[in-house]
Amino acid sequence: MSSRPLRKNKIQFHDLHTSRNEFASDVLKGLSVRPASIPPKYFYDAKGSKLFDAITQLPEYYPTRTEIDLLSNNAAQIARHVGTGSLLVEPGGGSCAKVHILLEGLKPRAYVPMDISRDHLQLAAEELAIAFPWLEIHAACTDFTQEMSLPPSAPRGTHVAFFPGSSIGNFDPDAAVVFLQAIAELVGPGGYLLIGVDLKKDKAILEAAYDDSAGITASFNLNLLSRINHELNANFDLTKWRHKALYNEQVGRIEMHLVSQQDQTVEINEDSFSFVEGETIHTENSYKYTSDEFIRLASKAGFQSDELWIDGNRLFSVHLFRVNDLQR
Ligand code: AVJ
Repeated sequence: MSSRPLRKNKIQFHDLHTSRNEFASDVLKGLSVRPASIPPKYFYDAKGSKLFDAITQLPEYYPTRTEIDLLSNNAAQIARHVGTGSLLVEPGGGSCAKVHILLEGLKPRAYVPMDISRDHLQLAAEELAIAFPWLEIHAACTDFTQEMSLPPSAPRGTHVAFFPGSSIGNFDPDAAVVFLQAIAELVGPGGYLLIGVDLKKDKAILEAAYDDSAGITASFNLNLLSRINHELNANFDLTKWRHKALYNEQVGRIEMHLVSQQDQTVEINEDSFSFVEGETIHTENSYKYTSDEFIRLASKAGFQSDELWIDGNRLFSVHLFRVNDLQR
């Protein structure tokens, strides 16, 4: 227990909007069509967030530690590009975890984490405020995939969006462009985007990263079914489903599925859904890009490449983009 007073005065909390029935309607919709699918954003209940944290520590899962090294090794250089006194915005930044690495070097005027998970966000913002007492924090509870707007109280300054972790890989390339356009609009002309993107590489390395030998990623995937059981009054039998991860080289993405081990029927509240043996529920895509491919994709959203960092093993990339400012 902490005996230190929390500096809550430095934190402003904004509930922008979240809808409680969205999980139910997305699951019912996704399981009513074939192939069945469920959006990956629903992995992250309390248990799922813990499992994801465990994934980031796995020997096979290189993205987290590689990106952290890239950001720490290049924080000073990043700061030289974007300057101090900025408004640092992190869509999906609920755990405020990686931003620590940047804060000392970047000295932003304010930090705006946006996340759908309210409790997670609140706790992390309070911890961050203790570690960085000079930082203004404007936490925004919102589903950034639905709505991306700054809290009205956020101060001015060069806007820098931070989107680490290769979370962009969850979007199909077309949707990624639309999302990056929303970021470009948010940061405005002269604003920046600092984004982590997983690189295309050997299939064996990729597949091991999403099907680890300790079975943590399998638990993470299957936990989606437990969450549906608990929250939506369903009766998935977890012993009748198996985790599967494959690299689809044609489209350049890891796919995660839950494979039905037999013919079965599952009840969710009043509805029932039948699955034949071998049928899958597609739970996640994680797109991989060469640096050129990603620069081309970002340019469709109005970004120009400012700088690019890649680790020595060519596993992961961190891009700094700037919004084209044609008036200047
Ligand atoms: C959080 C979407 C970046 O795609 O690598 C990790 C999620 N899924 N292991 C990823 C994930 C399975 C992760 N992202």
